[in-house]
Amino acid sequence: MNQILQMRSITKEFPGVKALEDVTLTVNAGEIHAICGENGAGKSTLMKVLSGVYPHGSYKGEIIFEGEEVRFSSINDSEAKGIVIIHQELALVPYLSIAENIFLGNEVKGAGGLIDWNKANHQANQLMERVGLHENPITPVSQLGVGKQQLIEIAKALSKEVKLLILDEPTAALNDTDSEHLLDLIRQLQKDGITSIIISHKLNEIAEIADNTTIIRDGRTIETMDMSDPTATQERMIRGMVGRDLAHRFPERIPEIGEPVLEVDNWTVYHPTQPGRMIIDNASFNVRAGEVVGIAGLMGAGRTELAMSLFGHSYGRNITGQVKMHGQVVDTSTVAGAVNASIAYCTEDRKRFGLNLLDDIRHNISAAGLFKLVKGGWINSNEELKIAEEYRASLNIKTPTVMALVGKLSGGNQQKVVLSKWLYTDPEVLILDEPTRGIDVGAKYEIYTIINRMVAAGKAVVVISSELPELLGICDRIYTLAFGRITGEMPVAEATPHALMELMTLERNAELPVRNGNHVEAGRTQGAEEPSDFELKGSNR
Ligand SMILES: Nc1ncnc2c1ncn2[C@@H]1O[C@H](COP(=O)(O)OP(=O)(O)OP(=O)(O)O)[C@@H](O)[C@H]1O
Ligand SMILES: [Mg+2]
Repeated sequence: MNQILQMRSITKEFPGVKALEDVTLTVNAGEIHAICGENGAGKSTLMKVLSGVYPHGSYKGEIIFEGEEVRFSSINDSEAKGIVIIHQELALVPYLSIAENIFLGNEVKGAGGLIDWNKANHQANQLMERVGLHENPITPVSQLGVGKQQLIEIAKALSKEVKLLILDEPTAALNDTDSEHLLDLIRQLQKDGITSIIISHKLNEIAEIADNTTIIRDGRTIETMDMSDPTATQERMIRGMVGRDLAHRFPERIPEIGEPVLEVDNWTVYHPTQPGRMIIDNASFNVRAGEVVGIAGLMGAGRTELAMSLFGHSYGRNITGQVKMHGQVVDTSTVAGAVNASIAYCTEDRKRFGLNLLDDIRHNISAAGLFKLVKGGWINSNEELKIAEEYRASLNIKTPTVMALVGKLSGGNQQKVVLSKWLYTDPEVLILDEPTRGIDVGAKYEIYTIINRMVAAGKAVVVISSELPELLGICDRIYTLAFGRITGEMPVAEATPHALMELMTLERNAELPVRNGNHVEAGRTQGAEEPSDFELKGSNR
């Protein structure tokens, strides 16, 4: 078969880290080629070498594209050849509109060389149509959730003459329905003759879409497997990635559930800038000691808005309702108040809210629990270092030292630092928003183990996740959220993906199903608006 790309013997070093060693990658023209490996294995680095982010001369080895050796000195060079990369951490400019972002650096010029905005907006609409997004092209990107921003990135790639599209974890932020839509899109592009390289930790999705899969471990190529071969199983992929068999995806736990710890009653939240738009509609739920409770919902259902509004009113306006801890009403209207009440919220969007990328791992881990390290006005820095080392070991954060900048870590390892930070505050209630997004199979298991350890110690954990198998694997009870309403509640023993999906997709004004003779905590009849305009109170970004 005709090869579009060969990367031969690629070696790339950073100070103290050999990210890639003698890596070989061969991609056939017109195929969908997946790359798999643990967090920090070198996947993103390999793609940055390919796309000229790391210029020729900064790595060893050669790249052959369409039969010729290429030596890119910048990303513009690779784009000129038709190689377009969509990075793991999205790179849109928040204050610019959708259309401006799509055509940034590639402006639609009209007569006289001026930008023709009518035309640009029109073309933006067409591109958005191709990726199945229905937004006004003049909407600032900052008003969209991460899922929709991902689709804009793809629209942006399509605006260029792309031959080889590189997608670094494109579905990490998407729920099942949207992921499926995206995979269809990639298949459609394949029919149009576009070759794709896709990096993903979702093995089922790779099995579904890839023609060939290359496994990388510790900066080395392990193997490339033909996915039509019956021996190309997920087990074989996992063995290649982690170097051993992983018998179970979810650690065992025997639940010991106690009294309610957190109780939220009649929680209603309005949009931060559009006063009439209800985002959370009279939601009531609780979590008990020793319990893991899941919140399932589609993108835009209001899951993150629910969590953030509870955590220091970090989202929304005109918030009403009551929060109780151990039966006592607590004031969570500020982040300090929430932390004081022993509630922690671990964000889904690590880049914006979770981490200071310019500071080291150690300081990021201690940031929210500093009060525990202060003695007589001084921070105990030996203790701080020790704590950071403990989390590095227990979560297997891949770094030469905890003094390394967080911004230099691979995506999944950054996520582990966010988790460490909130675990260190040792809260009574920990709300985890997409805790395993971008996390490899082995590290997921470690995170589940930590959740289990917390609940075994009598704490309560709330998990927001787009992955139903994950919720079904780790929770004791699951609430469903649709259009800002809690539409159902199920013990995990009764829950099936199908039953949850039905509740997650209930229409805005649909009557809520009856359970045990009672209506599920009913919301108001005029349901909440879909919170697509994601804005933060007090945020200047
Ligand atoms: N700019 C950098 N400076 C120093 N080290 C780096 C830099 N970029 C990456 N690394 C290191 O190189 C290794 C490979 O990182 P890379 O981002 O390629 O991993 P990855 O396979 O994409 O992981 P993930 O699944 O977490 O995204 C990691 O150990 C990472 O810490
Ligand atoms: Mg990566």
